[in-house]
Amino acid sequence: MSVDHPINPFLRWAGGKRWLRKHLNAIIKIDNYDNYHEPFLGGASIFLSLIPKNVSYLSDCNSELIDTFKSIKEDPLKVIEELSKFKNNKQDYYLIREIKFKNPWKKAAQFIYLNQTSFNGLYRVNLKGNYNVPYGYRKCKIYDQNQFLTIQKRFENVIFQSGDFELVLENIKENDIVFLDPPYVVSHYKNGFIKYNKKLFSLSDQYRLKDVISSICKVGAFYVLTNAAHKTIFEIFSKDSNFIELYRNSLIGGKKAERGKVMELLFTNIPYDLKP
Ligand SMILES: C[S@@+](CC[C@H](N)C(=O)[O-])C[C@H]1O[C@@H](n2cnc3c(N)ncnc32)[C@H](O)[C@@H]1O
Repeated sequence: MSVDHPINPFLRWAGGKRWLRKHLNAIIKIDNYDNYHEPFLGGASIFLSLIPKNVSYLSDCNSELIDTFKSIKEDPLKVIEELSKFKNNKQDYYLIREIKFKNPWKKAAQFIYLNQTSFNGLYRVNLKGNYNVPYGYRKCKIYDQNQFLTIQKRFENVIFQSGDFELVLENIKENDIVFLDPPYVVSHYKNGFIKYNKKLFSLSDQYRLKDVISSICKVGAFYVLTNAAHKTIFEIFSKDSNFIELYRNSLIGGKKAERGKVMELLFTNIPYDLKP
């Protein structure tokens, strides 16, 4: 592994885990594993901070997201050619938002453009599946050619798939590593539900995820799961697993930790030494 020079993702993504990279680095020693799997890929911030040895299977149920990554893997310059035609202003934003492109390079460019220029970089669609996030009034560079080319290199040994996280079971082998970052059922502080895509990640999805984790363990592979610090989540995932209460500034394992705010729970079957 080398996380000395993690590449920054080019998408803004709700629930993005850039802040988690340094903590994961202490837990996942990527050179110890064979293939890498990430079935809740989002903006790919974790994958881009690791250099897996063999093949990486990256997937997400957001097929537009996965198609965009595929286009960057195939030919980032064609995406850039299309992106350079889009201007960052309110009028163009709403025009571009409405177009139904068929050409894959234009579609990828549109996805990146809307992600960069929309309000908060949200991905939100209405019931008809139309992207409906308002203009963000952001003064920003929409793309960075060098970043795209560097990321294209990182994608050389990647197999992208779009679909449900259970896809991971199609390819998992002994000594592989899986990073799981599902949408949170509840937010820690608001106690409300968070929507991703057209449907919620429900409690029954969390139970399905638990079954997938059992299958991962059965084949002799390893996983790290990040999830909301919530009683129900703890009850579902803590059995037969090491868990780590993760604070923004420190990692504390064990039963209870008093200081700071709990931001996340990590569950893993990797033997993890909590001593500094
Ligand atoms: C918390 S985000 C991942 C963020 C990512 N780790 C990052 O750093 O950008 C969760 C992702 O799970 C995806 N997702 C939601 N339900 C899913 C499902 N049933 N199967 C696969 N992916 C799903 C969403 O589209 C979203 O991209």
